[in-house]
Amino acid sequence: MLIIWWLWPLLAICASDSFQDRAKEIMKTTPVIDGHNDLPWQLLKLFNNKLNDSKANLNTLTATHTNIPKLRDGFVGGITQAFSEGKIASLIGVEGGHLIDSSLGVLRALYHLGMRYLTLTHNCNTPWSDNWMVDKGDDKAESHGLSDFGKRVLKEMNRLGVMIDLSHVAVATMRDALQLSKAPVIFSHSSAYSLCHHRRNVPDDILQLVKNTSSLVMVNFYSMFVSCSKDANLSQVADHLDYIKKVAGAEAVGLGGDYDGVTELPKGLEDVSKYPDLIAELLRRNWTDTEVRGVLSDNLLRVFSEVERVSNIMQVPEEEPIPLDKLGGSCRTYYGYSRASSIHLQIGALLASLAPLLLSLHPL
Ligand SMILES: *[C@@H]1O[C@H](CO)[C@@H](O)[C@H](O)[C@H]1NC(C)=O
Ligand SMILES: *[C@@H]1O[C@H](CO)[C@@H](O)[C@H](O)[C@H]1NC(C)=O
Ligand SMILES: *[C@@H]1O[C@H](CO)[C@@H](O)[C@H](O)[C@H]1NC(C)=O
Ligand SMILES: *[C@@H]1O[C@H](CO)[C@@H](O)[C@H](O)[C@H]1NC(C)=O
Ligand SMILES: [Zn+2]
Repeated sequence: MLIIWWLWPLLAICASDSFQDRAKEIMKTTPVIDGHNDLPWQLLKLFNNKLNDSKANLNTLTATHTNIPKLRDGFVGGITQAFSEGKIASLIGVEGGHLIDSSLGVLRALYHLGMRYLTLTHNCNTPWSDNWMVDKGDDKAESHGLSDFGKRVLKEMNRLGVMIDLSHVAVATMRDALQLSKAPVIFSHSSAYSLCHHRRNVPDDILQLVKNTSSLVMVNFYSMFVSCSKDANLSQVADHLDYIKKVAGAEAVGLGGDYDGVTELPKGLEDVSKYPDLIAELLRRNWTDTEVRGVLSDNLLRVFSEVERVSNIMQVPEEEPIPLDKLGGSCRTYYGYSRASSIHLQIGALLASLAPLLLSLHPL
């Protein structure tokens, strides 16, 4: 009896170690490329972006989920050339369509500054696309997905070679984008709605479209999206990966941890050094080496090269601006809009008609 009691724990430890070893062996040649890390936001919060501060040192930062030693322990890498040089590359994603201010010119400029994905919305509607708060009932539907201008933004992203990110958008926007995009799209940090009914997650019918378009869902580790509570664990994150694999195929699964963007993280996935434990868990669940390499980076690299292939065959830029009455904002030049002169006239006429009233209210 005593021997048996001893043997079981020992066997369990050996087995888990061998999955760990296999995970690390795989990750030596295929690093993690995570779809969403908010370290730049932490640098803004902690240092107001004053990176000359001696404490703003990526090797010694301790208050963050992400620093260089943790990235090294987690086998985090990034695109092919930097990885072969032993460096950690980071691509730039822009989280929210409001950041282009309804300007195709700004979209093009951001591309040239290095943006390689744009999340169509953040937690608010843009003048041309609806966000997830509409599904939650907290915002009003405005574009009911993508407006005509939103569709032009999407086409221009296809032409430039910017990945379309559907995390944060309304289901109607997901549907429009998945239908219209000539290239696969990504969810840079969203999990499975079926396992946790949070509107930031991806519902099953959309997962079908993801499968059909060879698109990618990079699973978010935020406890509220994993278990719909503050408490979650690594095994529940693996459940989301398993689930998306079951519905949309292993080629549709990636990692979008949302490190340094969230407060509660699952037990066992506390910072970016922990990815090998999650990969070991997938191996324990009989994921093949190829499937695991897909999750780590191959699936994203496939989407990325398809996005670039489509970009190379699309020649004609979008030039029609957003309609003037959708532009929003109060400080504007209106050049380029043929109707703009009549708007100035209307405002002038309105002021003129108000003037007598104002005078009568101020009997000086
Ligand atoms: C950066 O900090 C150092 C040391 O405080 C200072 O000498 C230097 O002028 C600063 N550089 C800039 C660009 O602010
Ligand atoms: C999946 O794609 C095929 C071929 O592109 C198409 O015929 C089919 O309607 C699509 N299914 C869905 C659910 O969109
Ligand atoms: C993870 O959490 C779930 C739900 O609370 C629980 O059933 C499971 O045993 C936990 N797994 C581990 C390995 O802690
Ligand atoms: C993995 O495969 C082994 C061997 O075929 C099997 O015994 C085990 O039940 C499988 N585990 C899971 C989680 O599917
Ligand atoms: Zn986000």
